[in-house]
Amino acid sequence: MGSWDDLAAHHAGVKRRTLAELFENRSRSAEFSAHADGLLFDYSKTNIDATARGLLVRLAEDAGVAARRDAMFAGAKINETEGRAVLHTALRNLEGSVTVDGEDVMSAVRRVHDQMSDFARAVRDGSFAGQGGKITDVVNIGIGGSDLGPAMGAIALAPYADGPRTHFVSNVDPAHVHDILGPLDPATTLVIVASKTFTTQETMANADAARDWMAAGVKDPAAQFAAVSTALDKTSAFGIAEERVFGFADWVGGRYSMWGPIGLSLMLAVGPEHFDEFLAGGRAMDEHFLSTPFVDNLPVLLALVGIWHNQVCGHATRAVLPYDQHLSRLPAYLQQLEMESNGKSVAMDGETLARDSGPVVWGEPGTNGQHAFYQLIHQGTRVIPCEFLLGREGHEPELAPMHRLLAANCLAQSEALMKGRSLETARKMMEAKGLEGDELERQARHRVFPGNRPSTTLLYPKLTPFVLGQIIALYEHRVFVEGVILGINSFDQWGVELGKELAQTLVPMLENGADASAKDGSTRMLLDYLRG
Ligand code: F6P
Repeated sequence: MGSWDDLAAHHAGVKRRTLAELFENRSRSAEFSAHADGLLFDYSKTNIDATARGLLVRLAEDAGVAARRDAMFAGAKINETEGRAVLHTALRNLEGSVTVDGEDVMSAVRRVHDQMSDFARAVRDGSFAGQGGKITDVVNIGIGGSDLGPAMGAIALAPYADGPRTHFVSNVDPAHVHDILGPLDPATTLVIVASKTFTTQETMANADAARDWMAAGVKDPAAQFAAVSTALDKTSAFGIAEERVFGFADWVGGRYSMWGPIGLSLMLAVGPEHFDEFLAGGRAMDEHFLSTPFVDNLPVLLALVGIWHNQVCGHATRAVLPYDQHLSRLPAYLQQLEMESNGKSVAMDGETLARDSGPVVWGEPGTNGQHAFYQLIHQGTRVIPCEFLLGREGHEPELAPMHRLLAANCLAQSEALMKGRSLETARKMMEAKGLEGDELERQARHRVFPGNRPSTTLLYPKLTPFVLGQIIALYEHRVFVEGVILGINSFDQWGVELGKELAQTLVPMLENGADASAKDGSTRMLLDYLRG
């Protein structure tokens, strides 16, 4: 019997067991948790027991996770559909040595890292200035991986931000660029056009709009533009001087790119030293991932818990719930990382995937989510595994009592999800309120919590740049491990192409009434409405 069958059989035998029962094993929390450089990952509030864990670990072993991991770090072309290596890990391994096709790639990585650091220092100390003086604002124009990483990171590391203010424009909706640039002074603003391909429609439209805005305010608009891209010919065609172009190689996937020049806006905000601490945190997680046995390996454990819930238990979605306002954009960041990577129905070998693809990932920071969608998480008919994140301390020591409220809420939620509330307890509550008969029964039933709902909790000491690096690399590797187990190529994204192509055909129909007769009836009706 194969590992998937073993897991299904085991799950069938244990699915009626309550999570609370599992805690009759007094050492369960220690046995079903793991540490890495100050992080604690607790997965004891799941229905995974020693047998399930053994089977899941075997699944990872049989899928060749270790060999694939080593191949990735070594620069092998594991992104087979695009014929590329996958080396975002090289961007945070500045001391290391990595080759692709027999050629050292680290000298270029170090050179661009130094170029970024020099530029960031010059902007921050004013030796690179705008035409109206020291740069006060930096606008990053990019989308997807060229936006979400630095945008999420700039919020996450706001307590360390002592450089220019950072702003992020991504949507092609003109409202975005208009509303962001509106209050800024072009004479003291630096615009970074961040695009791996430098062809992305949204980014190029926003870059053009920003150039016009800049031209209306300063004599030499190009002097206050920088670019981050793999397409250096296109950046020079746009008119950006070579010394402000920060290149990277095609072996850095968009959604894995915040460690390199795509992170320039973050580096400008927090400074090169803090940025390097972020890289060091990512590197520490790489080392943990590379050297720790699977049963104690955080990325592998997160992946196995994910596989258990999604593939074995059949839970189609997963909520990411950071109890940390600074991680408010983490769910959005993870949506791209996880769903663009593992949302596929064809396996690496071209065959239809034998199983479901990766789960829907969604979430909001706690405690806000509690007052919005937690109702469904606690009492809805579908089980939604939850992933809580929480720091031991915040950056506001003067408000420490509030942080304790935050922590109490986080722990309360996972406890409530696990324990629930029985009908008997609910009846007693209603009795105490003086209710009786049918009304007592009716009211009691509404107050029942089924419980037995799984969650994990990731604790960290404090959201420093190092810890942010650990967390992001942890999730990257988790996605990788899940992808290998499912047989997916986690590093391409063909599923985003069709909509882009069709948008190109629709632009002339909207712009100058081009013939739309080849379109379907619905699209024609919508076009007619928009054309007025
Ligand atoms: O459309 C998807 C995508 O290709 C993402 O993978 C990528 O992060 C984003 O677009 C932006 O691409 P680029 O950096 O080339 O502008």
